[in-house]
Amino acid sequence: MPGLTMGDTIPDLVADSTHGKIRLHDYIGASWTIVFSHPGDFTPVCTTELGKMAEYAQVFAQRGVKLVGLSCDDVQSHKEWIKDIEAYTPGCKVTYPILADPNREIIKQLNMVDPDEKDSSGNPLPSRALHIVGPDKKVKLSFLYPATTGRNMDEVVRVLESLQKSYKHKIATPANWKPGDPVVISPSVSNIEQAKEMFPQGYKTVDLPSKKDYLRFTNV
Ligand code: BEZ
Repeated sequence: MPGLTMGDTIPDLVADSTHGKIRLHDYIGASWTIVFSHPGDFTPVCTTELGKMAEYAQVFAQRGVKLVGLSCDDVQSHKEWIKDIEAYTPGCKVTYPILADPNREIIKQLNMVDPDEKDSSGNPLPSRALHIVGPDKKVKLSFLYPATTGRNMDEVVRVLESLQKSYKHKIATPANWKPGDPVVISPSVSNIEQAKEMFPQGYKTVDLPSKKDYLRFTNV
């Protein structure tokens, strides 16, 4: 994937938004932040996704996460569209800002361009991209979905919890992990004394044919 990717610092760009001008690094501050893009205003899947994000805003806030959406139309269009999103998602308000990108400059900088979708004038459109940015302003994870596939916000919460846990502890989360499940101790913790010290709660090593003790489960 060319352009912005995992490990890169998110650009400190300035954009118009439904909350006024936003400088991205100031907005992020020292928080985790989810930056997510949509192909366009007043489109069906995008309306459901932005509604779901409004519904999950509290879930993300409880985890210390800020949200910022992006769609390539202008701010006035976003403000009109929010009325539809809120009507479709009763009881939920779109409290997060939505960036405008009428010149498609931001989607290029954030590596959110859809290679296939174009508007009626042939201009590029954003894909359903999503970057999870850490408190150090580095991209920790990116999703890139086509316009035809809406995202699952439970999956966003799941990967966020994995990222936050592995930022704090030397652990990783195994296949099909869900919040609350045991995690695995990172291979970088190779020394038994170090593992005991880092995980005083204990851990279980899986007995494997190789007799190598690299698969160690613990709870954090
Ligand atoms: C949608 O949000 O429904 C959508 C947008 C662009 C292309 C296809 C679907």
